[in-house]
Amino acid sequence: METVIKNARVVTGDGILEGIEVGIENGKIAALDKNLSGQKIIDAQGKYLIPGGIDVHTHLDTFFGGMQTADDFTSGHLGAIAGGTTTHLNFCFPERGQSLIEALSYWINKAHGDALIDYGFHAVIQDESHLQELPQLIEMGISSIKCFLAYKDKLQINDELFYKTVEKAKELGIVTMVHAENGTLIDYLVRKAVAHQWISPLFHAKTRPPEFEAQSIHFAATVASVLRAPLYIVHLSSKQGLEEVIRAKRSGTFLWTETCPQYLFFTEKDLQRKGKSAGLEDFEGAKWICSPPLRKEEDRNALWDGLFSGTIDVVSSDHCSFHFIGQKTRGLKDFSKIPSGVPGIEERMILLFYYGCMKRKLPLERFVLLNSELPARIFGLDGIKGKIAVGYDADVVIWDPQIKKTLSVHSHHIRLDYNLYEGFYIEGGPEMVMLRGQIIYNNGQFYVKKANGQFLFRSPPSILNCPTP
Ligand code: URP
Ligand code: ZN
Ligand code: ZN
Repeated sequence: METVIKNARVVTGDGILEGIEVGIENGKIAALDKNLSGQKIIDAQGKYLIPGGIDVHTHLDTFFGGMQTADDFTSGHLGAIAGGTTTHLNFCFPERGQSLIEALSYWINKAHGDALIDYGFHAVIQDESHLQELPQLIEMGISSIKCFLAYKDKLQINDELFYKTVEKAKELGIVTMVHAENGTLIDYLVRKAVAHQWISPLFHAKTRPPEFEAQSIHFAATVASVLRAPLYIVHLSSKQGLEEVIRAKRSGTFLWTETCPQYLFFTEKDLQRKGKSAGLEDFEGAKWICSPPLRKEEDRNALWDGLFSGTIDVVSSDHCSFHFIGQKTRGLKDFSKIPSGVPGIEERMILLFYYGCMKRKLPLERFVLLNSELPARIFGLDGIKGKIAVGYDADVVIWDPQIKKTLSVHSHHIRLDYNLYEGFYIEGGPEMVMLRGQIIYNNGQFYVKKANGQFLFRSPPSILNCPTP
């Protein structure tokens, strides 16, 4: 073998393998066995070996809400690597009137030269004409699409186009993802709040109640149920939303959901935080503006329960970073102008390991399922990524449970003027990260080359072999 990793506790979704060595050759996991010999031996005594993380919801190098995200592919990838993530799926937004094929070529091109880890795209449906392009898009390696039921007059599509999209996706065997919030009612409440001069960051949450999420999930799941089509609910934020997910799953709808760290660690109280900079004291909460918004303690607890019970399938970051100064501050006098989005690509796995596995006893197998295995299976990377098994890409992380640190803007690797988790203490994290068998991070040092990350050709996932009506 070119490389052999010895003495690690190898974590898979099915269990923890003790006393098994992992042999790597030509970028792939070539053997899981005992007494392997290799040109390079890595001793991982006292550490875990886990599959590289797969973050299926990111917005790198994206113009969103009238602003360019702070992170591009390179800076986002540095953060991803330091946090143990080796693959991500970004959203490919077409410009108004642009074809999806053209948009995808543009996005692949833009990521190509900057990429340090492997990446793929979900195509955002904005127009009925996009549906005709889907067969060609699949041939280009896209096996998931996204619809927005929020962001009125911007990204929101109407019910008919949503129905037709889910119908077409089902026919082609690909996944429809949905941002489920009632954008029409949110738009009304936002206009009403601003007219009343209710302009502080807290009103972002007050104008997007959890009922609007639950109602929208109910609608989307109804469409999926009528069509017997698969559906993936992104960034689930509320207990009421989760109840709709559970109801739909129990009634046999082919539905998955993800939540994100921000909904597991913060509540709407964070939107009222006080800052220290003069003139911005009451504006600190803008850092926590994301959509759907942060909720209440009972929502946070319900989402944690969902991770344990398996009603939530995936943890993604929804990394969409905007600087506090100069970007979030656009909404100093009007919360509706604050760009919506928070970071998380770097902290997603670290937080879940310490606060999930260590503190709450989330099984390590579930940690790997939520971060790597299920994302791969749902999004067409099964057999390639997301698992420590023979034949898979050798995207592996030696995870040292002894690492101790405090998260801070001064030590993160993304390009952002604040850290959402400033002051959070964690234990455990990546000591070494390999991408297709190459060491790209070791003991805090990066060994990366631009354009080393590859575009991932994703096939329609085999998990979608659902019965037709
Ligand atoms: O606030 C958020 N989540 N920004 C990113 C776009 C989206 O809705 O996922
Ligand atoms: Zn969204
Ligand atoms: Zn998003």
